[in-house]
Amino acid sequence: MERLDKILSDAGFCSRRDCARLVRRKLVTVNGAVASNASDKVEDDASIEVDGVAIVRRRRVVCMMNKPRDFVTSTEDPISRTVMELLPEDLLRQGVVPAGRLDKDTEGLLVFTNDGDLLHRLISPRHEVSKTYLVRHEGSVTENEIQKAKEGIVLKDGTVCKGAEIKRVEDGLSTITIREGMYHQVKRMFAALGCHVLELKRISIGSLNLGDLETGSVRELTQEEIALLED
Ligand code: URA
Repeated sequence: MERLDKILSDAGFCSRRDCARLVRRKLVTVNGAVASNASDKVEDDASIEVDGVAIVRRRRVVCMMNKPRDFVTSTEDPISRTVMELLPEDLLRQGVVPAGRLDKDTEGLLVFTNDGDLLHRLISPRHEVSKTYLVRHEGSVTENEIQKAKEGIVLKDGTVCKGAEIKRVEDGLSTITIREGMYHQVKRMFAALGCHVLELKRISIGSLNLGDLETGSVRELTQEEIALLED
């Protein structure tokens, strides 16, 4: 069961607000009966029409990619190849878009979905979804830097970051978990610590891990994995 206004907006038919207007004007029917409320929940197999036009419901799709370097996270680009070019045709047809961005030279976990609510949850700063990166960098991080990250690194332009967790893996290799998504954030955080970033790979979003998905590959998430993102 799903709300009528969500079904219409996910189908790309209209915004939720416009759906409410259409319902008030008695233009929306569910299984032939005029709908009384845009927030009403509707059975998965219900037939919905707006002013006599049948709505084709979209299957909810959530998938992950192991993004390779040299691809931009954008739906179109005049020069570079885009992550959309790596998506199979059937997923593209379902209208999935990337939930957030990785830099052109960053690899790793990128989630795509056609579910507007999940997309908003993953990218809205309010939800503070954690993202963990594996960072190859010049220099090495000390206890002092780890502590600074916990308290909030001050970027070179004066921006104060939220507390982050850095773990040293070995000399020149660390992980960092952040709960915000500013432009070039990890590179700028490490630069503020005096460690130039050489390679960056996102390895998890919330409790969802990239695992052993091959570089450039895409797969749909299981229901359990989707639940991890909705937690
Ligand atoms: N931080 C960066 O600097 N780059 C990314 O691609 C992601 C996080």
